[in-house]
Amino acid sequence: MISDLRATEVSHLLLSKFLREGQRAVDATAGNGYDTVFLAKKVGKRGQVYAFDIQTIAIERTKALIEKEKCADVVRLINDTHEKLTEYIKGSVQAIVYNLGYLPGGDKATITKADATLSSIKEALELLAPGGVISIVAYPGHDGGDCEAKRVENLLQELDSALWDVFSYQRFNAIKPAPYLLFLHKRTG
Ligand SMILES: C[S@@+](CC[C@H](N)C(=O)[O-])C[C@H]1O[C@@H](n2cnc3c(N)ncnc32)[C@H](O)[C@@H]1O
Repeated sequence: MISDLRATEVSHLLLSKFLREGQRAVDATAGNGYDTVFLAKKVGKRGQVYAFDIQTIAIERTKALIEKEKCADVVRLINDTHEKLTEYIKGSVQAIVYNLGYLPGGDKATITKADATLSSIKEALELLAPGGVISIVAYPGHDGGDCEAKRVENLLQELDSALWDVFSYQRFNAIKPAPYLLFLHKRTG
């Protein structure tokens, strides 16, 4: 059930529609672990979640949260960049989640960077199973976040509409740059 209308909440709502027990999913930016736990609970004991983060502190926080939430056995934690998705994951996955920007409660200088984000999303497009989804929450208000978000948008606008459905969800009456959701669905045929 949705409790508010933030981009991260709406992302989870949409992911719930596409993700089933026993499937495989990726959290490309593990951070404090909330998305990882969400994905792990969706795919259940027979599923698998790969959670990436370049910061050791983020991997440690995610580890603590998945243990507390009793879903650690489903999660593989990867302390490395999400530019290497296909080095760690063989075969396709059903969902890939990006929550861009910096680690809340962490070092604000360590932030997702446009070049790495784009390179990772290009790999994600290949890794995704037909019928699968990619969720990207972008933060145009962060330093460099606007440029990163624009470059992601440009990439997504080039995707063939016969193969991809791409949606955006954002607060229309925001008074300052607000986080927004880009949501992709890979068509089945
Ligand atoms: C907004 S936080 C993610 C929040 C997280 N999804 C949650 O539920 O708490 C963004 C994270 O992306 C990570 N990050 C930045 N660049 C990265 C990269 N190239 N590969 C993987 N993670 C990266 C940061 O270290 C930070 O922890």
